[in-house]
Amino acid sequence: MKHIAVLASGNGSNLQAIIDAVESKKISGAQVVLVLSDKKDAYALSRAQKHGIENKFINPKLYASRQEYDHALLACLQEQKIDLVVLAGYMRLLSPEFVTAYRNRIMNIHPALLPAFPGTKGIAGALEYGVKITGCTVHFVDEGMDTGPIILQEAVVVKDDDTVESLRARIQNVEHRLYPKAIDLWVRGKITIQGRRCFIDDDEAGTFECL
Ligand code: GRF
Repeated sequence: MKHIAVLASGNGSNLQAIIDAVESKKISGAQVVLVLSDKKDAYALSRAQKHGIENKFINPKLYASRQEYDHALLACLQEQKIDLVVLAGYMRLLSPEFVTAYRNRIMNIHPALLPAFPGTKGIAGALEYGVKITGCTVHFVDEGMDTGPIILQEAVVVKDDDTVESLRARIQNVEHRLYPKAIDLWVRGKITIQGRRCFIDDDEAGTFECL
């Protein structure tokens, strides 16, 4: 049984989708055993609580540097023998030490088709730029900002009357399906990484849907 930790700073709707996928056995062979947050009032912590999952706010203000903060996170992860770290709306860049400790075992989801619109304005940036198609990307985390090897992507069409909110809602719908799928592939050992490229050994994983 693989142990998953989720790091979240906010609402945690992706965390919820992952918990639901584990409970309904869409993800099998893994459990979410720990949820960590850098925000005391993150709703993600309450979601974890409701499902009996250990959860912890770790206050960044108590640490002198990002490295020291990440050291504290790593101690929690190691205590729970975490195999996979899942970032779900976690708003801090990880230190190189953290990335090295969990190389190719940290996933993130980004609300745009990377390498377009990295950073915090994935949705607003795409809308302002005027792209007709955007989407979401699940990728492994490396030392850069949204730069690691891409695992899965799915497109979302931008409508003429879209606002940031309406576009976010459709992207998040896709995220809630795509993230559990990527995690399930990893748990089942179906992802091979060669350089920047991830190869998926699963017939269904290549299915490309447009919403
Ligand atoms: C998601 O849209 C994800 O793409 C981005 O942050 C958002 C988190 O939402 N990285 P939630 O906290 O999972 O609801």
